[in-house]
Amino acid sequence: MQIIDGKAISAAIKQEIAQEVEAILANGGKRPHLAAILVGHDGGSETYVANKVKACEECGFTSTLIRYEDDITEEQLLTKVQELNEDPDVDGFIVQLPLPKHIDEQKVTEAIDYRKDVDGFHPVNAGRLAIGLPCYLSATPNGILELLRRYNIETKGKKCVVLGRSNIVGKPVASLMMQKQYPGDATVTVCHSHTANIEDECRNADIIIAALGQPHFVKENMVKEGAVIIDVGTTRVPDATRKSGFRLCGDVDYDNVAPKCSYITPVPGGVGPMTIVSLMKNTLLAAKHEIY
Ligand code: GUN
Repeated sequence: MQIIDGKAISAAIKQEIAQEVEAILANGGKRPHLAAILVGHDGGSETYVANKVKACEECGFTSTLIRYEDDITEEQLLTKVQELNEDPDVDGFIVQLPLPKHIDEQKVTEAIDYRKDVDGFHPVNAGRLAIGLPCYLSATPNGILELLRRYNIETKGKKCVVLGRSNIVGKPVASLMMQKQYPGDATVTVCHSHTANIEDECRNADIIIAALGQPHFVKENMVKEGAVIIDVGTTRVPDATRKSGFRLCGDVDYDNVAPKCSYITPVPGGVGPMTIVSLMKNTLLAAKHEIY
């Protein structure tokens, strides 16, 4: 059994990106610039955005954090999105989700110029991903593929079970795993809350990508000997022994499942660090205008 070390891989990729930025600057080019809009004070969002700003520093990018209180109107937010769309110095930007209830997330997502949508959430990027055209790949699926690539994990002809059908992870990762490329060429089954015999589906899988958000859903008896397990879950569970008061819990019962696997991602330190690196890669692509 080999533990897939997302922390080490992400550190190596950040170094690769930083070197590329140095080369761009040495050739008289512009420093890549990522902007992020954060509305309110959600604990998870604060942490994610702080990590994104830190990753920008590590990669040699400029970052701009734009903060608003919860009571910002949808119209004010859309005005800022338009401003960033038109700002030639900003290569790409994100609006951190979730947004307060009175703001239509889909409307805001669609207001972002797809050429600056480094999250890959705009329907143009989601649609292009689905039909295999160049686009900004959404960060978590891209991070998962990068881990499979860096560990040379075979995917062609393999049976891949994706647990969860979210627009951010389940659907795009299923699309990518079935495309004619490496990593890909897998036979993909997407399971969700209405799937019959989900345990049997998992037992038949060569690769399981668990993105349900249900702590320890995948148990030892659901996993085939030698399977590859990718755990996307990051549920915060209360833990009085931690300073933060919580710990991150994956969708896989790691301690009992790991001995049966060929490869497995831990939580934390598996997929999580790769997600932010994927955003950095998209920002670099945006700065180089390699896709649009
Ligand atoms: N909320 C949780 N994950 C993400 C993400 O990857 N991007 C944005 N914009 N919001 C999120």
